[in-house]
Amino acid sequence: MVYLLDKVWKEYRGRAGVTRALDGLSLSVERGERLALVGRSGAGKTTLFRLLNATLRPTRGRVLFDERDVGQMSSRELRAMRRRVGTVYQQHYLVPSLSVLDNALCGGLGRWSLWQTARSVLRPERADVEEAEHFLELVGLKDKLRERADTLSGGQQQRLAVARVLMQNPEVILADEPVASLDPGLADSVMNLLHEVADEGRRTLVVALHNVELALGYFPRVVGLRGGAVALDAKASGLTREALAEFYADEKAWQQTPVT
Ligand SMILES: Nc1ncnc2c1ncn2[C@@H]1O[C@H](COP(=O)(O)OP(=O)(O)OP(=O)(O)O)[C@@H](O)[C@H]1O
Ligand SMILES: [Mg+2]
Repeated sequence: MVYLLDKVWKEYRGRAGVTRALDGLSLSVERGERLALVGRSGAGKTTLFRLLNATLRPTRGRVLFDERDVGQMSSRELRAMRRRVGTVYQQHYLVPSLSVLDNALCGGLGRWSLWQTARSVLRPERADVEEAEHFLELVGLKDKLRERADTLSGGQQQRLAVARVLMQNPEVILADEPVASLDPGLADSVMNLLHEVADEGRRTLVVALHNVELALGYFPRVVGLRGGAVALDAKASGLTREALAEFYADEKAWQQTPVT
């Protein structure tokens, strides 16, 4: 088991008071599993991702990664964990003034020492450049290597963010709506790409999606969040398009006919 979340709460304190983003969420994920995470805006998907990559701590409850309690990890162990988990964020956090190639090379940062990092930006290793070019070709950006990242379209930036995570060579890939601004053809190619890379190293893949067809078409397991808890956890093979569409369309109606 790669993740075990046991009754996890996450509350944000802001000007408007306290927002409960996760409300007693429990979830386990096996190594190598492929999981689509669905749920309306505000259901807690991004918050869950940030617990899974240890950039956020739960207010209450335990998150286990590889049977280790994330809350008990030393800062050294946390850094090691963050290297093993690659995240494609909803906002891509690219460096706008750097080239496409340099942005992709940045994905290796966690893997390298400070010295290697400095060297890779100033004078990258041939092998790293080749690897970055390979991933950029995979995501269809081979002809944009020297362009600045801020000249890319939204969809191109999204694909660059995927290439950068591939450079990290992580054991777990978390992707927060990685195809939200892509046309259907590109959405398919990015989904295929994530699966291919996951296949390569028996990597775990968790992808937040708003698209019912993609969730059912690409993932054997679908987990639905509602109000910060798991409201649906089903095999895609046992889930109809209509049932999943209903999960979005009318939460109350769905509640009366659970599809687990
Ligand atoms: N930093 C924050 N401070 C205060 N509230 C927050 C913060 N981040 C998220 N929230 C709130 O927590 C809840 C869950 O947010 P989250 O971003 O996890 O949802 P989401 O499922 O990813 O939504 P979306 O589909 O729109 O990306 C929302 O009500 C949101 O407003
Ligand atoms: Mg989100």
